[in-house]
Amino acid sequence: MLMKVTTSGFLETGNIMVIPVFEGCNKAPNNATTNLNRSASIAVKSAFASDSFTGKLGESLSVWTKECQIILLGVGGKNDLTTKKSRDTGAKCFASLSKNHGTKIVIRYTTGWNVKNMAAFAEGMILRDYSFDKYQKKEDDKKGPWSLMCQTIERHQDALNSAVNRAYEIATGVHLARDLGNEPANKLYPEEFGKRALEWSKDKQNVEVEVWNYARLKEEGMYGLIEVGKGSIHKPCMVFFRLNPSANKDSEVPCIVGKGITFDSGGISIKGSAGMDEMKLDMHGSATVFGLFQALHATGYEGRINGITCMAENMPSAEAYRPGDVINTYSGKTIEVLNTDAEGRNVLADGLWKASELKPSYIIDLATLTGSIVVALGHEATGLFSNNKALSGKIQAAGDEVDEISWPMPLLPAFEKQMTSSKIADVRNQGKGRWGGASQAAGFLKQFVQEREDKEGKKSQIPWAHLDIAGTAGIWGGETNVTVGHGATGVQVRALHYLITQK
Ligand code: BES
Ligand code: MN
Ligand code: ZN
Repeated sequence: MLMKVTTSGFLETGNIMVIPVFEGCNKAPNNATTNLNRSASIAVKSAFASDSFTGKLGESLSVWTKECQIILLGVGGKNDLTTKKSRDTGAKCFASLSKNHGTKIVIRYTTGWNVKNMAAFAEGMILRDYSFDKYQKKEDDKKGPWSLMCQTIERHQDALNSAVNRAYEIATGVHLARDLGNEPANKLYPEEFGKRALEWSKDKQNVEVEVWNYARLKEEGMYGLIEVGKGSIHKPCMVFFRLNPSANKDSEVPCIVGKGITFDSGGISIKGSAGMDEMKLDMHGSATVFGLFQALHATGYEGRINGITCMAENMPSAEAYRPGDVINTYSGKTIEVLNTDAEGRNVLADGLWKASELKPSYIIDLATLTGSIVVALGHEATGLFSNNKALSGKIQAAGDEVDEISWPMPLLPAFEKQMTSSKIADVRNQGKGRWGGASQAAGFLKQFVQEREDKEGKKSQIPWAHLDIAGTAGIWGGETNVTVGHGATGVQVRALHYLITQK
Protein backbone atom coordinates (compact mmCIF):
# COMPACT_ATOMS: atom_id res chain seq x y z
CA MET A 1 0.00 0.00 0.00
CA LEU A 2 1.21 3.46 -0.86
CA MET A 3 1.07 6.25 1.70
CA LYS A 4 -2.01 8.43 1.91
CA VAL A 5 -1.50 11.79 0.17
CA THR A 6 -3.55 14.98 0.57
CA THR A 7 -3.28 18.64 -0.39
CA SER A 8 -4.28 21.60 1.77
CA GLY A 9 -3.47 25.10 2.92
CA PHE A 10 -1.06 25.83 5.76
CA LEU A 11 -3.03 24.05 8.44
CA GLU A 12 -1.63 21.43 10.75
CA THR A 13 2.07 20.91 11.23
CA GLY A 14 2.22 17.09 11.26
CA ASN A 15 4.91 15.18 13.13
CA ILE A 16 7.52 15.91 10.52
CA MET A 17 7.37 19.19 8.67
CA VAL A 18 9.53 19.60 5.60
CA ILE A 19 10.17 23.09 4.26
CA PRO A 20 12.06 22.96 0.97
CA VAL A 21 14.02 26.20 0.64
CA PHE A 22 15.75 28.03 -2.20
CA GLU A 23 19.34 29.09 -1.88
CA GLY A 24 19.95 32.54 -0.44
CA CYS A 25 16.79 32.61 1.62
CA ASN A 26 17.85 34.05 4.97
CA LYS A 27 14.44 34.84 6.38
CA ALA A 28 11.51 32.50 7.02
CA PRO A 29 9.24 32.78 3.95
CA ASN A 30 5.56 33.62 4.27
CA ASN A 31 3.57 30.70 5.66
CA ALA A 32 6.61 28.74 6.82
CA THR A 33 5.66 29.21 10.45
CA THR A 34 1.86 29.37 10.15
CA ASN A 35 0.15 27.51 13.00
CA LEU A 36 3.39 26.74 14.79
CA ASN A 37 3.36 27.64 18.46
CA ARG A 38 5.39 30.62 19.62
CA SER A 39 8.56 28.82 20.66
CA ALA A 40 8.63 26.60 17.56
CA SER A 41 8.08 29.61 15.38
CA ILE A 42 10.99 31.44 16.98
CA ALA A 43 13.23 28.41 16.58
CA VAL A 44 12.39 28.12 12.85
CA LYS A 45 12.90 31.81 12.24
CA SER A 46 16.28 31.66 13.95
CA ALA A 47 17.28 28.66 11.85
CA PHE A 48 16.45 30.56 8.65
CA ALA A 49 18.43 33.56 9.84
CA SER A 50 21.47 31.54 10.92
CA ASP A 51 24.54 31.15 8.75
CA SER A 52 24.55 27.39 9.16
CA PHE A 53 21.78 26.98 6.61
CA THR A 54 22.06 28.54 3.17
CA GLY A 55 19.64 26.51 1.06
CA LYS A 56 22.29 24.85 -1.12
CA LEU A 57 21.07 21.75 -2.92
CA GLY A 58 21.18 18.80 -0.55
CA GLU A 59 21.70 20.82 2.62
CA SER A 60 19.36 20.09 5.50
CA LEU A 61 18.82 21.40 8.99
CA SER A 62 16.47 19.93 11.58
CA VAL A 63 14.75 22.00 14.21
CA TRP A 64 13.35 19.88 16.99
CA THR A 65 10.26 21.02 18.80
CA LYS A 66 7.94 19.12 21.11
CA GLU A 67 5.23 18.82 18.47
CA CYS A 68 7.22 18.09 15.38
CA GLN A 69 10.57 17.74 13.70
CA ILE A 70 10.96 20.61 11.28
CA ILE A 71 13.35 20.07 8.40
CA LEU A 72 14.69 22.94 6.31
CA LEU A 73 15.80 21.38 3.05
CA GLY A 74 17.99 23.17 0.52
CA VAL A 75 16.99 22.78 -3.12
CA GLY A 76 19.54 25.20 -4.60
CA GLY A 77 18.93 28.30 -6.71
CA LYS A 78 15.33 29.08 -7.57
CA ASN A 79 16.01 29.49 -11.29
CA ASP A 80 18.04 26.27 -11.44
CA LEU A 81 15.33 24.09 -9.96
CA THR A 82 14.25 21.22 -12.21
CA THR A 83 11.71 18.44 -11.77
CA LYS A 84 14.62 16.03 -11.48
CA LYS A 85 16.21 17.98 -8.64
CA SER A 86 12.84 18.29 -6.90
CA ARG A 87 12.00 14.62 -7.25
CA ASP A 88 15.44 13.44 -6.17
CA THR A 89 15.51 15.80 -3.20
CA GLY A 90 12.07 14.60 -2.09
CA ALA A 91 13.19 10.99 -2.44
CA LYS A 92 16.42 11.50 -0.51
CA CYS A 93 14.62 13.42 2.21
CA PHE A 94 12.07 10.64 2.58
CA ALA A 95 14.84 8.05 2.85
CA SER A 96 16.33 9.97 5.78
CA LEU A 97 13.12 10.04 7.84
CA SER A 98 12.38 7.86 10.81
CA LYS A 99 8.98 6.99 12.23
CA ASN A 100 10.23 7.60 15.76
CA HIS A 101 8.90 11.10 15.67
CA GLY A 102 5.56 10.13 14.10
CA THR A 103 4.30 9.27 10.63
CA LYS A 104 2.48 12.40 9.49
CA ILE A 105 4.65 14.25 7.00
CA VAL A 106 3.76 17.79 6.01
CA ILE A 107 5.51 19.53 3.14
CA ARG A 108 5.23 23.31 3.18
CA TYR A 109 5.81 24.82 -0.22
CA THR A 110 6.34 28.50 0.36
CA THR A 111 7.12 31.40 -1.96
CA GLY A 112 8.41 30.64 -5.43
CA TRP A 113 7.22 27.05 -5.93
CA ASN A 114 5.35 26.13 -9.09
CA VAL A 115 2.97 23.18 -9.30
CA LYS A 116 5.21 21.03 -11.48
CA ASN A 117 8.13 21.17 -9.07
CA MET A 118 5.90 20.75 -6.03
CA ALA A 119 4.36 17.64 -7.54
CA ALA A 120 7.78 16.23 -8.50
CA PHE A 121 9.04 16.69 -4.93
CA ALA A 122 6.04 14.84 -3.50
CA GLU A 123 6.38 12.21 -6.23
CA GLY A 124 9.95 11.56 -5.10
CA MET A 125 8.67 10.78 -1.62
CA ILE A 126 5.89 8.55 -2.93
CA LEU A 127 8.24 6.62 -5.21
CA ARG A 128 10.83 6.18 -2.47
CA ASP A 129 8.24 4.88 -0.01
CA TYR A 130 8.85 1.34 -1.15
CA SER A 131 10.59 -1.70 0.22
CA PHE A 132 10.50 -5.35 -0.71
CA ASP A 133 10.39 -7.02 2.68
CA LYS A 134 7.75 -9.70 2.30
CA TYR A 135 10.31 -12.45 2.93
CA GLN A 136 11.71 -10.82 6.04
CA LYS A 137 10.55 -11.45 9.55
CA LYS A 138 9.51 -8.04 10.80
CA GLU A 139 8.32 -6.60 14.02
CA ASP A 140 4.75 -5.37 13.98
CA ASP A 141 4.64 -1.94 12.44
CA LYS A 142 2.73 -0.40 15.34
CA LYS A 143 3.50 3.05 14.05
CA GLY A 144 1.40 2.42 10.96
CA PRO A 145 1.87 3.75 7.43
CA TRP A 146 3.18 7.17 6.44
CA SER A 147 0.86 9.95 5.36
CA LEU A 148 1.80 12.97 3.32
CA MET A 149 0.14 16.38 3.31
CA CYS A 150 1.23 18.88 0.66
CA GLN A 151 0.59 22.47 1.72
CA THR A 152 0.45 25.41 -0.63
CA ILE A 153 -1.43 28.65 -1.19
CA GLU A 154 -5.06 28.34 -2.20
CA ARG A 155 -4.44 29.39 -5.80
CA HIS A 156 -2.31 26.26 -6.42
CA GLN A 157 -4.25 23.73 -4.41
CA ASP A 158 -6.51 22.22 -7.07
CA ALA A 159 -3.76 21.87 -9.63
CA LEU A 160 -1.34 20.43 -7.08
CA ASN A 161 -3.96 18.04 -5.80
CA SER A 162 -4.59 16.56 -9.23
CA ALA A 163 -0.89 16.44 -10.13
CA VAL A 164 -0.03 14.63 -6.91
CA ASN A 165 -2.95 12.24 -7.25
CA ARG A 166 -1.84 11.39 -10.74
CA ALA A 167 1.73 10.82 -9.54
CA TYR A 168 0.31 8.56 -6.87
CA GLU A 169 -1.72 6.54 -9.37
CA ILE A 170 1.25 6.11 -11.66
CA ALA A 171 3.39 5.10 -8.69
CA THR A 172 1.09 2.12 -8.09
CA GLY A 173 2.34 0.85 -11.45
CA VAL A 174 5.99 1.61 -10.66
CA HIS A 175 5.73 -0.23 -7.36
CA LEU A 176 4.01 -3.20 -8.99
CA ALA A 177 6.82 -3.43 -11.55
CA ARG A 178 9.37 -3.34 -8.72
CA ASP A 179 7.52 -6.04 -6.78
CA LEU A 180 7.60 -8.31 -9.83
CA GLY A 181 11.22 -7.54 -10.58
CA ASN A 182 12.33 -8.20 -7.01
CA GLU A 183 10.56 -11.55 -6.67
CA PRO A 184 13.09 -14.37 -6.62
CA ALA A 185 12.95 -16.85 -9.46
CA ASN A 186 11.74 -19.73 -7.30
CA LYS A 187 8.66 -17.70 -6.40
CA LEU A 188 7.98 -15.94 -9.68
CA TYR A 189 8.30 -18.18 -12.73
CA PRO A 190 6.44 -17.84 -16.04
CA GLU A 191 3.23 -19.54 -14.95
CA GLU A 192 3.13 -17.55 -11.71
CA PHE A 193 3.52 -14.28 -13.62
CA GLY A 194 0.56 -15.32 -15.78
CA LYS A 195 -1.45 -16.18 -12.69
CA ARG A 196 -0.75 -12.79 -11.14
CA ALA A 197 -1.76 -11.02 -14.33
CA LEU A 198 -5.04 -12.97 -14.43
CA GLU A 199 -5.72 -12.18 -10.79
CA TRP A 200 -4.97 -8.51 -11.35
CA SER A 201 -7.47 -8.37 -14.20
CA LYS A 202 -10.29 -10.06 -12.29
CA ASP A 203 -11.87 -7.05 -10.62
CA LYS A 204 -11.26 -4.69 -13.55
CA GLN A 205 -14.01 -4.39 -16.12
CA ASN A 206 -12.01 -2.74 -18.87
CA VAL A 207 -9.07 -5.13 -18.71
CA GLU A 208 -8.50 -8.48 -20.37
CA VAL A 209 -5.60 -10.84 -19.67
CA GLU A 210 -5.00 -14.02 -21.62
CA VAL A 211 -2.26 -16.56 -20.98
CA TRP A 212 -0.99 -18.91 -23.66
CA ASN A 213 0.42 -21.93 -21.85
CA TYR A 214 3.05 -24.38 -23.09
CA ALA A 215 0.55 -26.51 -25.02
CA ARG A 216 -0.86 -23.43 -26.74
CA LEU A 217 2.62 -22.16 -27.61
CA LYS A 218 3.26 -25.50 -29.34
CA GLU A 219 0.00 -25.27 -31.27
CA GLU A 220 0.95 -21.79 -32.40
CA GLY A 221 4.49 -22.78 -33.31
CA MET A 222 6.14 -20.27 -31.01
CA TYR A 223 9.46 -22.05 -30.84
CA GLY A 224 11.49 -18.93 -30.07
CA LEU A 225 9.84 -18.93 -26.66
CA ILE A 226 9.61 -22.72 -26.36
CA GLU A 227 13.26 -23.47 -27.13
CA VAL A 228 14.52 -20.97 -24.57
CA GLY A 229 12.13 -22.12 -21.87
CA LYS A 230 11.95 -25.88 -22.36
CA GLY A 231 15.06 -26.63 -20.27
CA SER A 232 13.29 -25.55 -17.10
CA ILE A 233 10.66 -27.43 -15.11
CA HIS A 234 8.79 -24.11 -15.17
CA LYS A 235 7.56 -24.02 -18.74
CA PRO A 236 7.26 -20.80 -20.76
CA CYS A 237 4.10 -18.87 -21.54
CA MET A 238 2.98 -15.73 -23.35
CA VAL A 239 0.80 -13.22 -21.55
CA PHE A 240 -1.52 -10.76 -23.33
CA PHE A 241 -2.68 -7.56 -21.68
CA ARG A 242 -5.59 -5.65 -23.21
CA LEU A 243 -6.85 -2.38 -21.77
CA ASN A 244 -10.21 -1.04 -22.99
CA PRO A 245 -10.48 -3.82 -25.59
CA SER A 246 -13.71 -2.43 -27.03
CA ALA A 247 -12.55 1.19 -27.39
CA ASN A 248 -11.35 2.72 -30.71
CA LYS A 249 -11.94 -0.55 -32.54
CA ASP A 250 -11.24 0.99 -35.94
CA SER A 251 -8.00 2.74 -35.13
CA GLU A 252 -4.54 1.34 -34.70
CA VAL A 253 -3.20 1.31 -31.16
CA PRO A 254 0.23 0.71 -29.62
CA CYS A 255 1.53 -2.67 -28.56
CA ILE A 256 4.14 -2.89 -25.77
CA VAL A 257 6.23 -6.06 -25.61
CA GLY A 258 8.36 -7.21 -22.66
CA LYS A 259 11.20 -9.69 -22.21
CA GLY A 260 10.27 -11.89 -19.28
CA ILE A 261 13.16 -14.21 -18.46
CA THR A 262 12.32 -15.02 -14.85
CA PHE A 263 15.86 -16.31 -14.43
CA ASP A 264 18.74 -16.17 -16.88
CA SER A 265 21.40 -18.71 -15.95
CA GLY A 266 22.69 -18.48 -19.50
CA GLY A 267 21.48 -22.02 -20.19
CA ILE A 268 24.05 -24.45 -21.65
CA SER A 269 26.25 -21.40 -22.40
CA ILE A 270 26.15 -20.92 -18.65
CA LYS A 271 27.11 -17.65 -16.98
CA GLY A 272 29.78 -17.31 -14.31
CA SER A 273 28.57 -17.42 -10.71
CA ALA A 274 29.52 -13.87 -9.74
CA GLY A 275 26.37 -11.81 -9.67
CA MET A 276 24.23 -14.52 -11.22
CA ASP A 277 21.57 -13.87 -8.57
CA GLU A 278 20.88 -10.56 -10.29
CA MET A 279 19.51 -12.46 -13.27
CA LYS A 280 16.20 -12.89 -11.42
CA LEU A 281 15.66 -9.36 -12.70
CA ASP A 282 15.91 -10.43 -16.32
CA MET A 283 12.13 -10.20 -16.53
CA HIS A 284 12.01 -6.46 -15.85
CA GLY A 285 10.79 -5.78 -19.38
CA SER A 286 7.69 -7.83 -18.63
CA ALA A 287 7.42 -6.21 -15.19
CA THR A 288 7.40 -2.78 -16.84
CA VAL A 289 4.63 -3.85 -19.22
CA PHE A 290 2.50 -5.13 -16.31
CA GLY A 291 3.24 -2.02 -14.24
CA LEU A 292 2.44 0.24 -17.18
CA PHE A 293 -0.98 -1.37 -17.59
CA GLN A 294 -1.61 -0.90 -13.87
CA ALA A 295 -0.62 2.77 -14.15
CA LEU A 296 -2.80 3.30 -17.23
CA HIS A 297 -5.73 1.63 -15.52
CA ALA A 298 -5.25 3.60 -12.30
CA THR A 299 -5.20 6.94 -14.14
CA GLY A 300 -8.36 6.03 -16.04
CA TYR A 301 -6.83 5.89 -19.52
CA GLU A 302 -9.68 5.38 -21.97
CA GLY A 303 -7.81 4.36 -25.11
CA ARG A 304 -7.26 0.80 -26.26
CA ILE A 305 -3.77 -0.63 -25.87
CA ASN A 306 -2.14 -4.05 -26.09
CA GLY A 307 0.70 -5.63 -24.18
CA ILE A 308 2.56 -8.90 -24.68
CA THR A 309 5.08 -10.48 -22.33
CA CYS A 310 7.32 -13.39 -23.30
CA MET A 311 7.89 -15.47 -20.18
CA ALA A 312 10.52 -18.19 -19.89
CA GLU A 313 13.24 -19.44 -17.55
CA ASN A 314 16.62 -20.00 -19.22
CA MET A 315 18.12 -23.10 -17.60
CA PRO A 316 20.65 -25.77 -18.52
CA SER A 317 19.28 -29.32 -18.38
CA ALA A 318 18.97 -32.51 -20.40
CA GLU A 319 16.02 -30.89 -22.13
CA ALA A 320 17.59 -27.50 -22.72
CA TYR A 321 18.29 -26.02 -26.14
CA ARG A 322 21.94 -25.95 -27.18
CA PRO A 323 24.44 -23.99 -29.20
CA GLY A 324 24.16 -25.12 -32.80
CA ASP A 325 20.42 -25.75 -32.62
CA VAL A 326 18.11 -24.18 -35.16
CA ILE A 327 14.89 -22.60 -33.93
CA ASN A 328 11.73 -22.42 -36.03
CA THR A 329 10.21 -19.17 -34.85
CA TYR A 330 6.59 -18.10 -35.05
CA SER A 331 7.49 -15.79 -37.94
CA GLY A 332 8.62 -18.69 -40.10
CA LYS A 333 12.19 -17.46 -39.99
CA THR A 334 14.83 -19.72 -38.50
CA ILE A 335 17.47 -18.81 -35.91
CA GLU A 336 20.86 -20.46 -35.58
CA VAL A 337 21.67 -20.59 -31.88
CA LEU A 338 25.30 -19.75 -31.30
CA ASN A 339 24.94 -18.85 -27.65
CA THR A 340 22.07 -19.95 -25.43
CA ASP A 341 22.76 -16.90 -23.24
CA ALA A 342 21.53 -14.63 -26.04
CA GLU A 343 18.04 -15.86 -25.16
CA GLY A 344 16.12 -12.61 -24.80
CA ARG A 345 16.18 -11.95 -28.53
CA ASN A 346 14.88 -15.46 -29.24
CA VAL A 347 11.78 -15.01 -27.10
CA LEU A 348 11.23 -11.47 -28.39
CA ALA A 349 11.33 -12.78 -31.97
CA ASP A 350 7.97 -14.47 -31.30
CA GLY A 351 6.65 -11.55 -29.24
CA LEU A 352 7.43 -8.98 -31.92
CA TRP A 353 5.95 -11.07 -34.71
CA LYS A 354 2.79 -11.60 -32.67
CA ALA A 355 2.66 -7.86 -31.90
CA SER A 356 2.94 -7.14 -35.64
CA GLU A 357 -0.15 -9.29 -36.26
CA LEU A 358 -2.21 -7.04 -33.99
CA LYS A 359 -1.91 -4.25 -36.58
CA PRO A 360 -0.37 -1.81 -34.11
CA SER A 361 0.19 1.91 -34.60
CA TYR A 362 3.65 1.23 -33.21
CA ILE A 363 5.50 -1.42 -31.24
CA ILE A 364 7.81 -0.76 -28.30
CA ASP A 365 9.73 -3.59 -26.71
CA LEU A 366 11.49 -3.43 -23.34
CA ALA A 367 14.27 -5.83 -22.45
CA THR A 368 17.24 -6.29 -20.15
CA LEU A 369 18.88 -7.44 -23.34
CA THR A 370 22.64 -6.86 -23.29
CA GLY A 371 25.58 -6.29 -20.96
CA SER A 372 26.91 -4.19 -23.81
CA ILE A 373 24.35 -1.41 -23.27
CA VAL A 374 25.55 -1.13 -19.66
CA VAL A 375 29.09 -0.66 -20.97
CA ALA A 376 27.85 2.09 -23.31
CA LEU A 377 25.44 4.05 -21.10
CA GLY A 378 26.13 2.91 -17.57
CA HIS A 379 23.08 3.24 -15.36
CA GLU A 380 22.13 6.70 -16.50
CA ALA A 381 20.02 6.05 -19.55
CA THR A 382 18.03 3.39 -21.33
CA GLY A 383 19.30 2.47 -24.81
CA LEU A 384 16.84 3.47 -27.53
CA PHE A 385 16.90 1.82 -30.95
CA SER A 386 14.25 2.53 -33.55
CA ASN A 387 13.37 2.20 -37.21
CA ASN A 388 11.31 5.38 -37.02
CA LYS A 389 12.57 8.91 -36.27
CA ALA A 390 9.19 10.30 -35.21
CA LEU A 391 8.56 7.48 -32.73
CA SER A 392 12.08 7.64 -31.39
CA GLY A 393 11.78 11.41 -30.89
CA LYS A 394 8.55 10.98 -28.97
CA ILE A 395 10.04 8.35 -26.70
CA GLN A 396 13.05 10.53 -26.02
CA ALA A 397 10.84 13.53 -25.27
CA ALA A 398 8.66 11.49 -22.91
CA GLY A 399 11.75 10.28 -21.10
CA ASP A 400 13.06 13.83 -20.76
CA GLU A 401 9.70 15.01 -19.45
CA VAL A 402 9.60 12.55 -16.54
CA ASP A 403 13.37 12.20 -16.10
CA GLU A 404 13.68 8.62 -17.29
CA ILE A 405 16.21 9.21 -20.01
CA SER A 406 16.26 7.20 -23.24
CA TRP A 407 19.39 7.72 -25.31
CA PRO A 408 19.36 7.07 -29.06
CA MET A 409 21.66 4.29 -30.24
CA PRO A 410 22.41 3.31 -33.83
CA LEU A 411 20.50 0.64 -35.70
CA LEU A 412 22.89 0.32 -38.61
CA PRO A 413 22.51 -1.95 -41.65
CA ALA A 414 25.95 -3.44 -40.97
CA PHE A 415 24.68 -4.89 -37.70
CA GLU A 416 21.64 -6.36 -39.41
CA LYS A 417 23.91 -7.89 -42.01
CA GLN A 418 25.99 -9.54 -39.29
CA MET A 419 22.92 -11.05 -37.73
CA THR A 420 21.53 -12.35 -41.02
CA SER A 421 24.74 -13.98 -42.19
CA SER A 422 24.20 -17.45 -40.77
CA LYS A 423 25.35 -20.24 -43.08
CA ILE A 424 22.49 -22.53 -42.16
CA ALA A 425 19.58 -20.40 -40.92
CA ASP A 426 17.90 -17.05 -41.65
CA VAL A 427 19.40 -15.25 -38.68
CA ARG A 428 22.02 -16.01 -36.05
CA ASN A 429 21.53 -15.11 -32.40
CA GLN A 430 25.05 -13.80 -31.82
CA GLY A 431 27.12 -11.31 -33.77
CA LYS A 432 30.54 -11.96 -35.21
CA GLY A 433 32.45 -10.35 -32.37
CA ARG A 434 31.73 -8.52 -29.17
CA TRP A 435 31.80 -5.00 -30.58
CA GLY A 436 28.52 -3.15 -30.68
CA GLY A 437 26.73 -5.97 -28.90
CA ALA A 438 23.65 -3.89 -28.07
CA SER A 439 23.33 -2.80 -31.70
CA GLN A 440 23.78 -6.37 -32.88
CA ALA A 441 20.90 -7.43 -30.65
CA ALA A 442 18.73 -4.60 -31.98
CA GLY A 443 19.65 -5.56 -35.55
CA PHE A 444 18.46 -9.08 -34.75
CA LEU A 445 15.14 -7.92 -33.29
CA LYS A 446 14.42 -5.79 -36.34
CA GLN A 447 14.16 -8.98 -38.43
CA PHE A 448 10.99 -9.85 -36.54
CA VAL A 449 9.01 -6.65 -37.07
CA GLN A 450 6.60 -7.07 -39.96
CA GLU A 451 6.27 -4.81 -42.93
CA ARG A 452 2.94 -3.47 -44.08
CA GLU A 453 1.50 -1.57 -47.01
CA ASP A 454 0.31 2.02 -46.83
CA LYS A 455 -2.63 3.36 -48.86
CA GLU A 456 -0.48 3.77 -51.96
CA GLY A 457 0.71 0.20 -51.69
CA LYS A 458 4.15 1.19 -50.49
CA LYS A 459 5.71 -1.30 -48.10
CA SER A 460 7.48 -0.27 -44.95
CA GLN A 461 8.17 -1.70 -41.54
CA ILE A 462 5.77 -1.03 -38.66
CA PRO A 463 7.18 1.80 -36.50
CA TRP A 464 9.09 0.05 -33.75
CA ALA A 465 11.42 0.96 -30.92
CA HIS A 466 13.52 -1.25 -28.71
CA LEU A 467 14.43 -0.11 -25.20
CA ASP A 468 17.43 -1.92 -23.70
CA ILE A 469 16.92 -1.44 -19.96
CA ALA A 470 19.75 -3.72 -18.79
CA GLY A 471 21.52 -0.77 -17.12
CA THR A 472 18.47 0.98 -15.70
CA ALA A 473 16.22 -1.85 -14.49
CA GLY A 474 17.67 -2.26 -11.07
CA ILE A 475 20.41 -3.74 -8.93
CA TRP A 476 22.76 -2.52 -11.63
CA GLY A 477 21.01 0.88 -11.62
CA GLY A 478 20.17 1.21 -7.95
CA GLU A 479 22.94 3.56 -6.97
CA THR A 480 22.16 6.31 -9.42
CA ASN A 481 18.39 6.11 -9.22
CA VAL A 482 17.57 7.72 -5.89
CA THR A 483 13.83 7.15 -6.22
CA VAL A 484 14.54 3.57 -5.13
CA GLY A 485 16.56 2.22 -2.24
CA HIS A 486 17.44 -1.22 -3.52
CA GLY A 487 16.60 -3.64 -6.30
CA ALA A 488 14.23 -3.24 -9.23
CA THR A 489 13.56 0.37 -10.26
CA GLY A 490 10.31 0.02 -12.21
CA VAL A 491 12.03 1.99 -14.96
CA GLN A 492 10.07 3.23 -17.98
CA VAL A 493 6.63 2.84 -16.41
CA ARG A 494 6.44 6.61 -15.92
CA ALA A 495 7.96 7.50 -19.29
CA LEU A 496 5.74 5.16 -21.31
CA HIS A 497 2.70 6.21 -19.32
CA TYR A 498 3.46 9.78 -20.32
CA LEU A 499 4.10 8.83 -23.94
CA ILE A 500 0.80 7.01 -24.25
CA THR A 501 -1.43 9.43 -22.35
CA GLN A 502 -0.13 12.79 -23.58
CA LYS A 503 -2.54 14.64 -25.83
N1 BES B 1 20.16 -10.83 -19.58
C1 BES B 1 21.40 -10.73 -20.25
C2 BES B 1 21.88 -9.28 -20.38
C3 BES B 1 22.27 -8.56 -19.13
C4 BES B 1 23.60 -8.54 -18.73
C5 BES B 1 21.35 -7.84 -18.41
C6 BES B 1 23.96 -7.83 -17.61
C7 BES B 1 21.73 -7.14 -17.29
C8 BES B 1 23.04 -7.12 -16.89
C9 BES B 1 21.28 -11.31 -21.65
O1 BES B 1 20.40 -12.36 -21.80
C10 BES B 1 22.63 -11.80 -22.04
O2 BES B 1 23.09 -12.72 -21.44
N2 BES B 1 23.22 -11.16 -23.06
C11 BES B 1 24.52 -11.52 -23.53
C12 BES B 1 24.43 -11.67 -25.03
C13 BES B 1 25.64 -12.31 -25.65
C14 BES B 1 25.74 -13.76 -25.22
C15 BES B 1 25.53 -12.22 -27.14
C16 BES B 1 25.48 -10.40 -23.15
O3 BES B 1 25.10 -9.23 -23.19
O4 BES B 1 26.59 -10.72 -22.75
MN1 MN C 1 21.30 -14.21 -21.34
ZN1 ZN D 1 18.84 -12.42 -20.46
